[in-house]
Amino acid sequence: MGSEREAIERVVAEAEHLLHAYKQDDLAHHMSELSEAERRKLAAQVLRVDFEALAQVYRSRSACSIAQDERIAPIPFLDVNMLSPDTYDQYEQRGLDLLREGKVGVIVVAGGQGSRLGHAGPKGTLDIGLSSHKSLFQLQAERLLKLSLRVGRVVPWYIMTSPENHDDTINFYASHRFFGYPEEDCFFLEQNTMPAMDHEGKLLLASPSELYLAPSGNGECFASLKRSGALEDMLRRGVTWLFYYNVDNALIQMADLVFIGMADLHSYPIASKVVSKELPEEEVGLVCMRNERPAIVEYTEFPESLLQERNVQGELTYALANVSIHMFRYDFIAQHADTSIPFHVASKAIPYLKTDGVMIASDVPNAYKLERLIFDFFPLAEGMTVLRVDREKEFAPVKNKEGEDSPRTAKQLVLRMYPEED
Ligand code: UTP
Repeated sequence: MGSEREAIERVVAEAEHLLHAYKQDDLAHHMSELSEAERRKLAAQVLRVDFEALAQVYRSRSACSIAQDERIAPIPFLDVNMLSPDTYDQYEQRGLDLLREGKVGVIVVAGGQGSRLGHAGPKGTLDIGLSSHKSLFQLQAERLLKLSLRVGRVVPWYIMTSPENHDDTINFYASHRFFGYPEEDCFFLEQNTMPAMDHEGKLLLASPSELYLAPSGNGECFASLKRSGALEDMLRRGVTWLFYYNVDNALIQMADLVFIGMADLHSYPIASKVVSKELPEEEVGLVCMRNERPAIVEYTEFPESLLQERNVQGELTYALANVSIHMFRYDFIAQHADTSIPFHVASKAIPYLKTDGVMIASDVPNAYKLERLIFDFFPLAEGMTVLRVDREKEFAPVKNKEGEDSPRTAKQLVLRMYPEED
């Protein structure tokens, strides 16, 4: 009994030491005022925090990541509308063959908090206002079912959630009988989290005895596939390619045959769909080559002179916008499941508890989240196959409550492509 108490005191003392060493004195003080059970719980959580990583990311939060001596160049790509009929048919046939052989799986990243949207519940449960009231998950399930019927085989569907929305997501699927999708072909996997901080770098609380842990970005996908056993599941099923997309794209063309076939007929382990960027000031990530490697560079990090650059035809030199639709080869995912990619700092609106017990809610970004981004794996590949597609046919993001990229704009885009949804 005595030694158990000593062990607890050691844990608490160690946590206090860490908190003081990393300038989290308010939190240390708050911890000292908790009941013994609560103190033990919080201290144990504090000991699991990688303070050095947090401090490093906080220090570099506003650094522009493109250095002067870096080499940026356009990336080669094909346009789906310019493929010769033979090439188009060849890609489509290859995509069909791969799906028929069970070599393709699909992953949706659905672990985000959707803080701009402010929808209660997982984003995939959102009804964008179609008269059928179908949720994003349902729209995706139906498209995937249609494809499965066409190819005569069910496509395994991996669904990445977060600890915050995991149960709600599964319950939603279950209460809708998996939208007719075979339950055994839906694999739910939970992603990692990282502590969030306020703008002064202080850790936040979710409850008096718990740190606020936020899902740490879609770049956790490979690690989560491995940890959850989904990677093994892919191996067991013989899946060699994974089609990746964002849960909030209401127009996603699930496991598009031409894209799959094209990825497989090229030698690279990654393929990415892009759309044309129309204006230099458009706030999108740009697909390009960076230091002779494929990359996506955020518009905030792209040098202004290159953003404006145009070729002799007057077109923007860097006009391939990321729409988060990718293909990853199994061996690439397995090889990099343990690779540590950097954290980015994202300023988001997060409701949290202050150490003085006051609950903070905000409509504007009030805290920093640490996120790993899937495209930080791109430079680890020697090259990437890029397919330019039509924005209005494939991309209807739901990010904001109102205005641009909102449920209303997504509904309009869906109805234009699929009038039967009305
Ligand atoms: P966003 O960057 O748009 O983030 O995610 P979000 O959480 O959905 O929304 P905001 O920024 O808080 O308003 C792009 C895609 O990555 C997924 C999201 O679910 C979305 O499909 N994502 C994001 C994760 O799966 N995990 C995360 O930790 C973050």
